[in-house]
Formats: sequence, C-alpha cells, structure tokens
Amino acid sequence: MSTVRLLFLGDLFGQPGRDFLAQQMPRLRQEYGLDLVVVNGENSASGSGISPKIFESLLRAGVDVVTLGDHALRRSEIFPTLELATEEIRIIRPANFPPEAPGRGMTVVRTASGVRIAVLNLQGRTFMNPVDCPLAAADRLLATLPSDVVVRLVDYHAEATSDKQVMGRYLDGRVSAVIGTHTHVQTADERIFPNGTAFLTDAGMCGPYESIIGSQIKQVIPVMRTGCPMRFEVAKQDVRLSGAIIEVDAETGHAQHIERFHLRQDTLVAK
Ligand SMILES: [Fe+2]
Ligand SMILES: [Fe+2]
Repeated sequence: MSTVRLLFLGDLFGQPGRDFLAQQMPRLRQEYGLDLVVVNGENSASGSGISPKIFESLLRAGVDVVTLGDHALRRSEIFPTLELATEEIRIIRPANFPPEAPGRGMTVVRTASGVRIAVLNLQGRTFMNPVDCPLAAADRLLATLPSDVVVRLVDYHAEATSDKQVMGRYLDGRVSAVIGTHTHVQTADERIFPNGTAFLTDAGMCGPYESIIGSQIKQVIPVMRTGCPMRFEVAKQDVRLSGAIIEVDAETGHAQHIERFHLRQDTLVAK
C-alpha cells in the first residue's frame, strides 16, 4: 500500500509569510517526506491578491499548487497566469465564481513518484461575496475528474464553520481531504470522517500573528472606531506557518491520518 503525504498551508499573508515559507520549505519537504505542497495564496501580495512574480516565487520555493479565495481576482496582472492552457496548471481559484471569471477551479498534478492528485478550490457563501452553490460546483468538478485520480484535496474557502462542516460531510468518501481557509485562525478539530475524508475547519494563516489577521493592529482598530476606510499594511512580528499534514492511501484515496501543522519562527533555534 503506498501512501502520499500532503502539506496544506492556509492563507499566506504578505512578504513575512512568503519569506518564512521559502526559508522553511526545503527542510519541511525533506523532513516530512512531502509528496505535494499546496498553499492558499489569496493574501500573498501585500495581504490582498497575488501577482505572477509572487506565484512564480512560490513555485521556486517548493510549492506545487496555489489555491485562492475571495481576493483571487484583486490584481488583474494575475489573470493571464490563471488562464494558462498548460495541462498541469498550478494556480486555481474558487470554482463557483461567475462563469465568466478568469481561471479554473481544479487541477490535476503528478507527484515526483507518479501519483496523480486533484486539487479543488471552492468558496462559501455565508458572510461572503455572492457565488454559485459550492456543493453543486463540487459535484460538477468531480464529475469531470477521471475515476483513477483518487487522491483529491479540497480547499474550501469559507467564513462559517457550519458551512465548512457541510462541505466536509457532503464530500465524505468522494475526496481525500476537505481543508478550510479564509478565517486565518487555525481550528483544533482535525479528524477523519466515516467514509475516509480528512477534515479541518480552518488551516490558519501563514504570516505575522502580531496583527489582526495579518494587518497592522494600529491601523485596523481606528477603522472600526471611526468607520473611515484606511489602507492596511502587512504586520511584521511573530511569523508562523499554519496548516495540516494529511496522509492518503494512493490506491483508494482514503485519508489515513491528519494532523495540524503549526510552526513559529520565534521557537526555531538559529543556525
Ligand atoms: Fe479570504
Ligand atoms: Fe485570507
């Protein structure tokens, strides 16, 4: 029985998140024997959206696939990259965006050991911009997926914990893992559902934790006090990586193990 080990990392926030990720990735890939690394990059460019340059830097750092969320289309310079006609596209956005939106909601990539893995991206609807039904979109994606691609990872970008549980239960047995993103706060409810789908309500943020979900505290509080909009800057302190490691049976696509992943920069011994 062969096992694939996946690392999924939650919302990557600004340069502090990117730098720590790039610094740690070679070690993490080796130490954990990772077959695939997926990161949600919707906040990777100064906290909002992603640019082609940043996307390419993530690939160079050792990330295999970048998923997105409600900030996916914030920067129009990424549109051509989202539309690339390569077979193994490495950046996807929620599949239930309007049909005319640039980009795709699913990709299938091959690991170094030859296992084909599908990565799907969907967005929730509670307290978020209107999108099509995420459950119906998941059905549509899975219907187009070759049945021999059994290892399947879903990034469900949603605000409400209940929405995320609904998606996890809806896809239980049809995908290997449903991992939530968007809140930037890691939850402690990792588990494997009865039909073999690993689940975590939210992967948490990769970025500066001395912040309000990544932005400078001193800028966010006045906006709430006054109602006057202000441009937020990326915070800098207490950088961490946050996500989940999932082990999947490559023959059945069933999850064998899931554990939370959380790495603090300040606890690492300087080398
Ligand atoms: Fe988001
Ligand atoms: Fe985010």
